[in-house]
Amino acid sequence: MDSIVNPTNIPAVHTTSISDVVKDRSDVVSRENRSTVGETIVEDPRISCLDVNVYYGEKPAIRQVGLEIARNQVIAMIGPSGCGKSSFLRCLNRMNDTIPACQVTGKILMDGQDINGKGIDTVLLRAEVGMVFQKPNPFPKSIWENVAFGPRIHGLAQTKKELDEIVEKSLIQAGLWDEVKDRLNQPGTGLSGGQQQRLCIARAIAVNPEVILMDEPCSALDPIATAKIEELIDKLRLDYTICVVTHSMQQAARISQRTAFFHLGDLIEVGETKQIFTKPLHHLTEDYITGRFG
Ligand SMILES: Nc1ncnc2c1ncn2[C@@H]1O[C@H](COP(=O)(O)OP(=O)(O)OP(=O)(O)O)[C@@H](O)[C@H]1O
Ligand SMILES: [Mg+2]
Repeated sequence: MDSIVNPTNIPAVHTTSISDVVKDRSDVVSRENRSTVGETIVEDPRISCLDVNVYYGEKPAIRQVGLEIARNQVIAMIGPSGCGKSSFLRCLNRMNDTIPACQVTGKILMDGQDINGKGIDTVLLRAEVGMVFQKPNPFPKSIWENVAFGPRIHGLAQTKKELDEIVEKSLIQAGLWDEVKDRLNQPGTGLSGGQQQRLCIARAIAVNPEVILMDEPCSALDPIATAKIEELIDKLRLDYTICVVTHSMQQAARISQRTAFFHLGDLIEVGETKQIFTKPLHHLTEDYITGRFG
């Protein structure tokens, strides 16, 4: 049987608690200033966003976001409900295209290529930039089929044996293989919530993505399943760039190297996670992480 993960054994990326934040600093930027502060630029960007706006009809949900996302890093996106985290995340693999009222402007470059440019195949883009949602959503098919589906439609395997190999490798990477290897033909929907979420991660990995977007991937999970996913995210960043939206500041501190704080559609601050949680530059960031609103 798989050993139970002790949540306290999660590799702590940063251990600073929010209560350590220095109060009443005179160097923080005023609440009224809404232009982004911090380090929006990185040395080795996988994704570069420039002046990104998202509108639903006339109403802007994201305004003028400029942000670079580094290779092999986890960036956490935090901020109060309705501030536009999911809307921004969906820009990165053009999932907003599926919402009729939604319009995205600005430039998003992935490895220098404009993802909104002419000739971009959104099916291929969404394989390269995979997505894992808040609620695990396996297909109503077997565990094997859930993982094999993507590689098959993208022609990544010629034979059943090759598909089997991709399925096994993806399930191993998602930390699920040992729990399901004897029941690959059973429905994915029959797994526990945490297992289903790891199955969805295996499904995303199976098509060789570059980037994985996760929108509150642990919010429907118990602490043990959450710990497993967090451990997995830390391992996966060695191979992928990962963007995680989370309402848990402890989770952001544990799993990410950089954090972006959104507020009412503006990217207020971005920087190294440790800096954001110990010495935020903006008053609104400080107010949010110290629980003054949210
Ligand atoms: N499909 C939609 N149609 C119209 N407005 C939308 C749609 N999706 C989001 N919005 C609006 O855009 C704004 C940002 O929403 P979004 O879901 O991106 O926020 P969020 O930060 O992810 O919130 P939460 O933390 O609650 O998930 C909100 O005002 C929301 O009402
Ligand atoms: Mg959301």
